[in-house]
Amino acid sequence: MRIVMLGPPGAGKGTQAQILEQRFNVWQISTGDLLRMNRSEGTPLGKQASEYMDRGALVPDSLIIAMVEGALGGVDSFILDGFPRTVPQAQALDTLLEQLALPLDAVILFQAAREDLLARLTARWINPRTGRSYNTITMPPRTPGIDDDDGGPLEQRVDDQLETAKNRLDVYEAQTAALIEYYRGSGKLVEVDALAEVSVVTHAILSGVQKLMGVVS
Ligand code: AP5
Repeated sequence: MRIVMLGPPGAGKGTQAQILEQRFNVWQISTGDLLRMNRSEGTPLGKQASEYMDRGALVPDSLIIAMVEGALGGVDSFILDGFPRTVPQAQALDTLLEQLALPLDAVILFQAAREDLLARLTARWINPRTGRSYNTITMPPRTPGIDDDDGGPLEQRVDDQLETAKNRLDVYEAQTAALIEYYRGSGKLVEVDALAEVSVVTHAILSGVQKLMGVVS
C-alpha cells in the first residue's frame, strides 16, 4: 500500500494514518512529526524548520524533499502524511517513486469546512512521546490532560493556537490546494468527508483504495 494523505490542517490525516499503520503494518511517514522530532533533538534541520513551523508557514521545499528522500530509503509500503504540500514537492515525489519503480496507489483528499477545522485544531491535545492525538470535544482522554495508554501528560501544539491555526489554513489554500487538481488528473484521488466519525472515514478510505487497486472486499 502506497498512499498520500492530502488535506488541510486538522482534517484527520494523522489520525487515519495511524489507524492504517497499525492495521496494515505500513509505515506512516509524517513530515510534521519528523520535523518536530528534529526540533526536539536540536538538529540543524530542526533549528531551521522551527521558525517556519511556529508561525504556521511551510518549511522550504529543499529541506522537506531531502528529509523525505531519506525517510523513503528502503521502504516499499508507506503512508505519506502531510507530504507533498506544494507542486514542487509533488513533482519531486513523482521523480523519486519513478526511480524506485514504486507507483502510488491512491491520494486521499480530506474535505472539511474551515470553521470545523479551526474548532478541531484548537481542541487538540497530543502525547508528545507517541504522537497519539486527542480532542477535548470529540475524542477526550479518559482523564483530562493524561494519555490513556502511558499515563503521561498531554500537550497542546504551539501552532494550534487560534491565530497560527488560521494562518495554517490560509497557507493550505494558497500553497497546497493546487495539488487537488494535480492529483485529480492521475485518477488516483479518493475524496472523503473528514467530518464523519473516525471509523466511517477509515471505511471510506479503505473502500476507495480497494476500488483503485481492483481488490474485491
Ligand atoms: P503537520 O504536523 O503535518 O500539521 P498539519 O498538516 O497542519 O496537520 P495536523 O497534524 O494539524 O492535522 P491532521 O490532518 O493530521 O489532523 P489530526 O489527525 O491530528 O505540519 C506542521 C507544520 O510542519 C506545518 O505547518 C509546516 O510548518 C511543517 N510541515 C509539515 N509538512 C510539511 C511539508 N510537506 N512542507 C512544508 N512544511 C511542512 O486531527 C486533528 C484533531 O481532530 C485531533 O484532535 C483529532 O483527535 C481530531 N479528529 C481527527 N479525526 C476526527 C474525526 N473523524 N472526528 C472527530 N475528531 C477527529
